[in-house]
Amino acid sequence: MSDQPNYDNLLKKLQSKYDAQSEDTENYLEGLLYSKSITYWDYIHTDALLSLQIQRTTFPDEMVFIAYHQINELIFKMILWEISQVADNENLDVTFFESKLMRISRYFDMLTTSFNIMREGMDAEQYSKFRHTLTPASGFQSAQYRLIEFASTELINLIDARFRKTIDRNTPFEHALEHLYWQAAGKDYKTGEKSSLLTNFENRYKEEFITFMKTYNTKNLWSRFKELPKEAQEDKDLVKAMRHYDHTVNITWVMAHYNAAKHYILGPDGDGEATGGSDWQKYMHPKYQRRVFFPELWSTDELKNWGTDV
Ligand code: HEM
Repeated sequence: MSDQPNYDNLLKKLQSKYDAQSEDTENYLEGLLYSKSITYWDYIHTDALLSLQIQRTTFPDEMVFIAYHQINELIFKMILWEISQVADNENLDVTFFESKLMRISRYFDMLTTSFNIMREGMDAEQYSKFRHTLTPASGFQSAQYRLIEFASTELINLIDARFRKTIDRNTPFEHALEHLYWQAAGKDYKTGEKSSLLTNFENRYKEEFITFMKTYNTKNLWSRFKELPKEAQEDKDLVKAMRHYDHTVNITWVMAHYNAAKHYILGPDGDGEATGGSDWQKYMHPKYQRRVFFPELWSTDELKNWGTDV
């Protein structure tokens, strides 16, 4: 008997794969002869990734600021990736839903606990100088953060509480967008005038947001939860996972972010002004924003005290 491995079976499978695509197997096999073997750095695109941290000043701590924001954007991408699998699953069940929700929550937990990298990790004096080169930009303009919100809840829960009564499922999406809670960071409701923070953001992303809002209108996490059978909606672990996610995104992360902002903007070198120009102390606190993804999963008291005990 020969010691040579027998590849007949593998070759047959390859042949059926390429036959099914009306492709010539031989060309593909020959390609293998000449293709380069994969390396870690080619696969991860390390060089491209590490060339993206470009400072606007010479302050060393600006690097921390840029890199940490980029890490956040990568994690936001992973969160959206997991949400989309719940949104598009045709045979959604409790086990799958809960496991994805736990993945999403772990990512947000990580973002929350790591916020000290911002809170403690930069020299306040350096920050107070390089931040001026960033005006009028702000993390507020993170599009993925907004997509996570649209993909998590019914649109009505993202509408500024003052206008909720005027908006329902028949309201055009464009009108709803004009009344999202985050408009308050840069819109004068009396004159309709918007800050550059908001105008620049909308010029770049408005159309994309409207398409995404439409797509997720019926397949956001809350809609998918409500499609589950009644007993699944009462599953203790799933409800716990939903509440944990809501609390982490809308209270714990928001507070970690708010405390970092307070440290730098109100600290000894801070001037009290946000780069994006919002009335940030009011705007950013969860007790004013009262953003809740899954209000039906909280008691009246819990909702009343949202963000007040932190
Ligand atoms: C020193 C660190 C930070 C400070 C001082 C800070 C400050 C602020 C301020 C003042 C706002 C309100 C809008 C404005 O007027 O600019 C804001 C919004 C925002 N920032 Fe930050 N931020 C920091 C770090 C981060 C990081 C690391 C992220 C992660 C991507 C981030 C994401 C956001 C988001 C998503 C908003 C909008 C929140 C909302 O609409 O409720 N920020 N930030």
